[in-house]
This record gives sequence, C-alpha cells and structure tokens, in this order.
Amino acid sequence: MSASNATFLVTGTMGCLGAWVLRNLINDGAKIIATDLDMTVSRPKLLLSDQELDTIEWEKLDVTDVQAVNGLVEKVKPTHIVHLAGLQIPFCKANPSLGAAVNVVGTVNLFEAARHHGVRGLSYASSVGVLGAPENYPDRALTDADLPLPNNLYGVYKTANENTAKVYWQDWQVGSVGLRPYTVYGVCRDQGMTADIAKATLAIAANKPFHIRFDGPITVQHANDVARIFIDSALAEYQGADVFNLRNDVIEVAEYVALLKQLYPESQITFEKNNALPFPSDFDDAGLRSLLGKVPHTPLKQAIQSDVEQFAHLLDTGKITTDSLNG
Ligand SMILES: NC(=O)c1ccc[n+]([C@@H]2O[C@H](COP(=O)([O-])OP(=O)(O)OC[C@H]3O[C@@H](n4cnc5c(N)ncnc54)[C@H](O)[C@@H]3O)[C@@H](O)[C@H]2O)c1
Repeated sequence: MSASNATFLVTGTMGCLGAWVLRNLINDGAKIIATDLDMTVSRPKLLLSDQELDTIEWEKLDVTDVQAVNGLVEKVKPTHIVHLAGLQIPFCKANPSLGAAVNVVGTVNLFEAARHHGVRGLSYASSVGVLGAPENYPDRALTDADLPLPNNLYGVYKTANENTAKVYWQDWQVGSVGLRPYTVYGVCRDQGMTADIAKATLAIAANKPFHIRFDGPITVQHANDVARIFIDSALAEYQGADVFNLRNDVIEVAEYVALLKQLYPESQITFEKNNALPFPSDFDDAGLRSLLGKVPHTPLKQAIQSDVEQFAHLLDTGKITTDSLNG
C-alpha cells in the first residue's frame, strides 16, 4: 500500500522523532492520527505550518491504558502504526515502574490492538541501548544477530519489547519491524545526553559556545532520515518480527567538532575528553538495507548545514530559544 492511501496511527508524536514522522507523513499525503500523553504541540510546530497541523487528527492517548489504546485503534482503524512513545534512560532510572509501564506494557498494548484490529504494518522504536557495554562485543561492526546485553533498565525494557514482537509473530502472525536508533540529531532533538550533537548546531546558529559532554566514536542519524525509516518499515508490511540496527554516519566526536569548525570557523564547540558513550559504536545495517532497498541517509555535512540554517530561522522568528543549551 502506498503512504497516500494509508491511515497512520503514530504514538509519541510530541517527541523529536514523532514530529519528524508527522513531517514526512504530511509530505506523503497519508491520513494521520497523532497521539501522545502530552498534548503540547511544541516540537511538531517547529516542522509544520498551522495549516498542516490542522490536517492531522490529534488524540490524547496514554499507551499504558489498554482500553484506551484498543478503543482508539478500533475507532480509527489504522492500516499502519508507528510506535514511538517511550521514556528515555534517565526517566526509566528515576522511576523504574513507570518506565516499565510505558515502555513495556505500552508496547504490549499496541501489539494487542494491532492483533485484534487487522493492522497491516507496524514499526516500533527499540534502541541501541539494548546492546550494553562495548567491551562485551567483538571489535567489529555489530550485526543484527549480535545479542542484546543491556546494562540499564531502559535497555532491559526495550529488549523485552523486541521479544514481545517475536512472540506476537510466532503466536498470532502480527508482523513488525523494530528499529534501534543511536544518536539522533536535527531540529527538535533537545533532550537526553546524546542530544548534545544536535545542540552544537543550535549553538552555532545562535553564535554561542557549547560543550559536548562526551567523546569517542558515535553513530549519528538525522531525525528526518530516522523518521523516513520508521514509516517505510511500517509500509513494508513485514511478515516476521525482526529488529534492525541503524548506521548512517560513524564519526569520532573530535572529527565532528573539527567538521563544525571547518564549516563555521567562528563556532565555539568543545567536547569532554576521555568520556566515551557506553555503547558499541559501529553497526552493519545490511538487514535494514535488505528490508528497504535503500536506507534514507542525508550526508552529514549537508545535514549540518541545513540544521544550522533551520535553527537560525527558528531563532529569528522567535519559535525557539537557546534554553536547551543549558540542560
Ligand atoms: N532520540 C534518540 O536518539 C533515540 C535513540 C534510540 C531510541 N529512541 C527511541 O525512539 C522513540 C522516540 O524517541 P524521541 O527522541 O522522539 O523521544 P522523546 O522523549 O522526544 O518523545 C517520546 C514521547 O513519548 C511520550 N510519552 C511518554 N509517556 C507516554 C505515555 N504513557 N503515553 C503516550 N505517550 C507517552 C512523551 O510525551 C514524548 O512526547 C523512543 O521510544 C526512544 O526510546 C530514540
């Protein structure tokens, strides 16, 4: 089915990836039911005009509420679901029960609704967080067959979701694609430690200094590309329940900062030395390529330039502030 004939239900649409999924689905001409627990449209407003926002059906939805999830899916009859709602690493650590409720039970609720209401394609957000510490893995690009060894609750919950998906396929033939983003950057990426990569471009647009709190090799993916991957993975109507690593650009933080300096000689971006992120840093995305044919990938230099331009415009028009640089 093409996106223009599809009805997409998206969870977590007020988040960074959710906003970019909406941007792409509007471009596609899809019918959209946008859901979130929080109904503050601040991130989607950075990417969509008021007229575009008006074409979307907005529904407040708590994914932990099984009846609400089932009732909404029954009512709007989506052909496809992109499930992004979730709590990030620090929130799961601060409130493990809520983290499990949102990340694990919430995902079960979406699968259950998909099972009972004939949803044709479902993609959901897993994370590189399932993989745990790099020293537990061989020194090579990790494949989709390398096993999760999560070392924080967020990773444990995302691993549970990957296994939930496999059982929903085995027992009820609910097909799904799980995706494991790593460092997502772009406009709207304003929270979480790895958001520092995106914040550096906001700082450049604002002509302010900024310190990235880590170094070492990282895999970076532009939010627009990741959103496209989620949509295309749902549209693939996959007959199975596989989980795919994402790659796109692998770069040392030092090289990233040097690239920023080359593109913007006035930039004042620094980074913390000897503080690498606790995840493996390189991935083989052959699985995703074989699913999609071609993985959406904006070249890093081009993406940085477009982000700085977009941030500058949003600052000029008063749509964003630089407050996120302090958090
Ligand atoms: N951004 C990244 O770098 C990254 C990397 C790996 C995985 N992921 C995963 O991708 C997904 C989307 O990421 P993001 O950066 O857009 O996250 P985000 O934190 O910006 O957005 C998550 C959204 O989920 C919503 N939410 C929280 N609890 C909810 C509930 N009970 N019911 C409904 N909605 C609820 C929040 O209100 C928020 O709008 C998440 O599941 C995240 O774990 C993101």
